[in-house]
Amino acid sequence: MNAAAAPVRKAVLPAAGFGTRFLPITKSVPKEMLPVGDKPVIHYVVAEAVAAGCTDILIIVSRDKSSIVDYFDRAPDLERRLRAAGKDELADEIVRIATQARFHFVRQPEMKGLGDAVLQARDHVGDEPFALLLADTIIVDSSGVPGQPAALDTLHAAYGETGASAVVIEHVPADRISRYGVVGGTERAPGRFTLERMVEKPAPAEAPAVRRLDGTVDPGGWAFAARYLFTPAVFAHLARTRPGKNNEIQLTDAMAALLAEEGFSGCRLPGERLDIGNPRGLFEANRRILSLDA
Ligand code: G1P
Repeated sequence: MNAAAAPVRKAVLPAAGFGTRFLPITKSVPKEMLPVGDKPVIHYVVAEAVAAGCTDILIIVSRDKSSIVDYFDRAPDLERRLRAAGKDELADEIVRIATQARFHFVRQPEMKGLGDAVLQARDHVGDEPFALLLADTIIVDSSGVPGQPAALDTLHAAYGETGASAVVIEHVPADRISRYGVVGGTERAPGRFTLERMVEKPAPAEAPAVRRLDGTVDPGGWAFAARYLFTPAVFAHLARTRPGKNNEIQLTDAMAALLAEEGFSGCRLPGERLDIGNPRGLFEANRRILSLDA
């Protein structure tokens, strides 16, 4: 990460949602544990945080998500069995998953929205900046490789410049605007934006606009891409945030309040978001990541 600001040690991964778009499988398998190749989605998200230098990972879970806790725990019986069978490489990989960082878990008591899930991290994070990675989204770099630090690195560089929170954004066509939090603002340097507005899942006609360096305004909108770097000031805003869109406590609403207090940067996503919000997207993510080994 950029030397201008102290490294960000802590990463928070909310993994507490219902997974409604993947029912019925999410009746018993958390969507973060659905497979991409031979690993669950959340494996790639943790790898990304670790690659960016995070040493402390807090995963926000809810009831029926204990398979996530198990995945990042040691499994001594399995390790012994693999070694006895001469499968040391596999045993080493199993150990590495649990020891690549210090893992912590906290439960969101009630599913009251993403903002409420992030608020559960307050005591653990304390008074330092932290990375937030949505555990149901894989980011790949410009070569299509997952688990790379580029998105968090660019957020850290923006934070080093301004001291304010930052979020990765990507340009989406009008027909996808209402699936995301969408920003308005001004491009101040190539790929670096000063944000002025944030709206959670707007209708396309209500989406705020972004002015580019050359003075043009893009058709469509610029949407949050599941990676954020927050100053700890976000928690006071989250604690005050009332239910918003869909009657949920929205992270985006707390971010808008934080923007008014200390400003906010947007950073163009370096690479691509694999949108695994539905079965077709999960299939496509599998096709992309499995074809890397081919
Ligand atoms: C959440 C956020 C939204 C963001 C999206 C993807 O929505 O509320 O602002 O754009 O993640 O980063 P969800 O996918 O949980 O509906």
